[in-house]
Amino acid sequence: MTKKKMVSGITPSGTMTLGNYLGVVKQWVEFQNEYDMYIFIANLHAITMPQDKEKLRKNLKEVSTLYFACGMDANKSTIFLQSDVMEHAQLGWIMNTQSTMGELSRMTQFKDKSAKVESSGKESIPAGLFTYPTLMAADILMYDVDFVPVGVDQKQHIEIARDIAIRMNNKFGDLFTIPEALITKNNIKIMDLQDPTKKMSKSSTNPKAIITMLDKPEEIRSKIKAAVTDSENLIKYDFENKPGVTNLMNIYMILKGITKEQAEAHWNNKNYKDLKDDVAEAIVEMITPIQNRYNELYNSKEMEQWLEDGANKARKIAYKKLQKVQNNMGLNYKRK
Ligand code: TYM
Repeated sequence: MTKKKMVSGITPSGTMTLGNYLGVVKQWVEFQNEYDMYIFIANLHAITMPQDKEKLRKNLKEVSTLYFACGMDANKSTIFLQSDVMEHAQLGWIMNTQSTMGELSRMTQFKDKSAKVESSGKESIPAGLFTYPTLMAADILMYDVDFVPVGVDQKQHIEIARDIAIRMNNKFGDLFTIPEALITKNNIKIMDLQDPTKKMSKSSTNPKAIITMLDKPEEIRSKIKAAVTDSENLIKYDFENKPGVTNLMNIYMILKGITKEQAEAHWNNKNYKDLKDDVAEAIVEMITPIQNRYNELYNSKEMEQWLEDGANKARKIAYKKLQKVQNNMGLNYKRK
């Protein structure tokens, strides 16, 4: 039986956060035994926001290395840098022509990010930020995948990719498999440690608000210790009224693979110091072997080769898909 397919990626606009790891990467690693996975580093998406070129290079190298350090395996999955497979950009352009201003204007990520750029007062809103979902649609539709494993914040982008695919299939013949979003376990979003009503984001300007996969154990302990909770000193799973405490509980629950009832029982009659100590130690325990592997792989020839092989494999599929799309749309000189 042929394996079902999945595609996903991370934008290297910062280094990988605990939110990315617990939200998606941890599950990708498990999925790769069962699914045919296409996992890339979305560097073309990163430049939809202003980037410093040296920082971008560093971020994309860190994210790539972390993919492998976290357990992604080049022998099982196709792992590559988005810009190494140029067909993504070309199909992205085609998707651009097949989407509407109206549907792109409804994207909440565009509204949030453009407001951020505007409020900085330094830059104008890049057009690429507006058309970001069309490139993402190309990434997704290129590989005829069944599922797109992402966090809940990306759901709207998967929906627009589906809409474009359905529209193009109707207009130009059967071009794309219609994918489904596979929203990660229990829809849990890891929240900002300083403002637990916001998601933990790698582009946060407050380093205390996020944990990156490269933070040292002492940094992790001090960030968790300083995480915003409330004054009740009662450990209860209640996101509405206790977002800080619930966020810490979520982190622990995912790391230990336990339910909220088990988590509440674990901290029965304990206080916030106990909660924070347990959460910090659970993160350190998970992250230490990943960081050891990261240090071995960073700058290794082995990893460069994996990424090159991944791009070669992806390119073959992408080339064929693009030819088919161009043919069906009348872009080729001769009908094939
Ligand atoms: P990005 O880089 O913002 O996030 C990568 C993945 O991590 C998830 N995520 C989180 N999950 C839980 N808690 C959090 N705090 C948290 N922060 C991020 C995101 O939901 C996402 O799944 N547009 C995408 C990259 C992309 C892509 C694609 C993904 C480009 N093309 C095609 C899938 C398919 C993005 O910027 O993700």
